Amino acid sequence: MRKRKNKKGEPSFHGKPTLQKNFMKKEMLIQKLMALNTHLSQKALYKLEKLKEAKKTAAAKNQDKEKEKQERRAKKIEEARRIKIWEDKTLPTAKVIKIKDSTEHRERRVKIQGWVHHLRREGKKLLFIQLRDGTGYLQCVLTNLLSSTYEAITLTTESSVILFGKVMELPPGSHHKAPGDHELIVDYWELICGAPSGGTYYILDKKSNVDLQLDNRHIVIRGTNTSKNLKAASLVTQLIREHHLDRGYMEVHPPCIVQTKTEGGSSLFELQYYGKKAYLTQSSHLYLESVIAALGDVFSIQKSFRAEKSRTRRHLSEFTHIEAEFPFITFENLLEKIEDLVVSVCDRIKNPNNPLGQLVFEINPDFRTPRRPFKRMSYTEVIQYLKDNNFKKSDGTFYKLEDDISEGTERTMINKINEPILVCRFPAAIKPFYMKKCSDDPQLTESVDLLMPGVGENLGASMRIDNYDELIKAFIEKKIEPSTYYWYSDQRKFGSCAHGGYGLGLERFLIWILNLDHICDACLYPRILDRYKP
Ligand code: 4AD
Ligand code: MG
Repeated sequence: MRKRKNKKGEPSFHGKPTLQKNFMKKEMLIQKLMALNTHLSQKALYKLEKLKEAKKTAAAKNQDKEKEKQERRAKKIEEARRIKIWEDKTLPTAKVIKIKDSTEHRERRVKIQGWVHHLRREGKKLLFIQLRDGTGYLQCVLTNLLSSTYEAITLTTESSVILFGKVMELPPGSHHKAPGDHELIVDYWELICGAPSGGTYYILDKKSNVDLQLDNRHIVIRGTNTSKNLKAASLVTQLIREHHLDRGYMEVHPPCIVQTKTEGGSSLFELQYYGKKAYLTQSSHLYLESVIAALGDVFSIQKSFRAEKSRTRRHLSEFTHIEAEFPFITFENLLEKIEDLVVSVCDRIKNPNNPLGQLVFEINPDFRTPRRPFKRMSYTEVIQYLKDNNFKKSDGTFYKLEDDISEGTERTMINKINEPILVCRFPAAIKPFYMKKCSDDPQLTESVDLLMPGVGENLGASMRIDNYDELIKAFIEKKIEPSTYYWYSDQRKFGSCAHGGYGLGLERFLIWILNLDHICDACLYPRILDRYKP
C-alpha cells in the first residue's frame, strides 16, 4: 500500500492521525502524571479507566464502520458489474491514431490504444485518464456509464486500454490544463489488461534505493523522466547517424565476437566460441580501418564491451560506440572532424524542424552548442596545469609525465575549465599499440581525447600507424602476438595511407547533453559491475 501524508505531514495509511494515536498520547500523559504526583493518582486512575472504555467503544465503532464500508464497496462492485456499455455503431468509424497525431485529428472520431499513466476520479460520474502511448500523453474524459462499469471503478494506472472518442480542443479560459490543450471525449472504451493496484508504485516509489530501481528498470522506464531520457537518447542517436550520412560516410556493421584486443587486455571479456577462446569487442575501429580501402569514409554504431572492475558514474561494461574512420587525412583534419561532429549534432538538436529537440531543453535547460574551435591542450600542458592548480594523485604526489590522469581529477579539471577541450599528443607508453607516433617526438602519439564538462573523456581518437614494420614493432613493444592481426596488418601492405578516426561513447555524450548525474540514466538496461539483469 502506498503511504499518504496527513495534514501534519506525518505518514499515515488513513490520511488522518488515527484515533488510536490520540488515545495513546493521552494514556501516556496520565501515566506520567501518576508517576510524578501520587496525590493525583486516584483521579488519574479513574480517567485512565474511562479512557480505556472509550477506546474499546471507538475500536468497536471503527470495526463497524470498516465493515459497512466493505459492504458498500461490495454492493457498488455488484452494481457496476451489471452495467454494460457498447460501441454505438451509428457513430462514424473511429480512425486508429497515435497520440502525437491528435492535433490534426481534432473533432474527428478516433481510436487510441495505450497505458493509463495517471488516473483521477471526480465523484461517481467522471473519470479522467491520462493516456500514454509512447508518442505522447492525452487527457481522456469518461463520464456517466463509461465511468461506472466494473472495469472503470477498479481501473488502475499502468493498465492497457482502448479508447474511442473525439479529440476536442479545451474550451477557451478552461481552468484545467491538459497536454496539447485538448482532451479525448470518450464514447466507448475497453480494458485490454489490468495492472496491480497502485500501478508502478506496486513495485517501487521515488524513495526506492538505486539497486531496487535498477532491478525494476522495466517498470522505471515507464515513468515520465526516465522515458524522456530514453526518447532523447533515441533522438541523439538518430542525429549522430544523420550527421555521418550527410557528410557522405557509409555505415557498416562490424562483428562483436572477435579474436583481437584493441584497448589492452585488462578490460577484455572472454568467452568460449565453439570450444575456442574469443572476446567481446572493445572497439570496432580495427575493422573500420580495414574497410576504408573498400568504402572510403565509414562509420559504425555498435556495442563495445569493457570489463570495468570499478563502479564509477561514467563506466559501463557495455556501451554504444560511435566510431568513424577516414583515409587520407591529417591529424588537424581529424580534430576538425571531431568538432564538426559535436557542433553539428548540437545544431541539429536545436533545429526547430526537429520536434523532439525540445525534449533536450526540457531535461537540460542550459544546453548550448559549444563554440568552434574547441580549446586545445597538449597532454604535457595538462600535466603542468594540474601541478599549477594543485591537483594531486591519490598518493598525495603531483602528476608526472606518462601518468594516467584519474577519472576524478579529469572531471574536476574540466568542470573548472568549463568548456570542451581537445587534449592532444598523449605518450605512446600509456596509449594502445595502433596510435601513430608524432613526427617531431616519437615518445608521443597523434592522439586526442575530447573532454566535456560534467563527464570528462567523451571521445578518443588518433591517427593510426600506417607503416607495416612500425606496426609490427608496436605489437612487439606491447607484447601482442601479431599473427591474429594479419587482416589488420595487411592494410599496410596493400596500398597503405595516412588515416585516422574517433570513437564517441553515446551514453557519456548523453550525460553531457542532458546534464545527467549517472551513466545509468542514459542507458536502457545498464550493464555495470555485478549487474547484468534485467
Ligand atoms: O578511448 P576509447 O577506449 O577509444 C577507443 O576505443 C578507440 N578505439 C576509438 C577509436 O579511435 N575509434 O573509447 C572511446 C570512447 C571514450 O571516450 C568513451 O566515451 C567511451 O568510448 N567509453 C566508454 N563509455 C562508457 N563506459 C566505458 N567503460 C567506456 N569506455 C570507453
Ligand atoms: Mg580513451
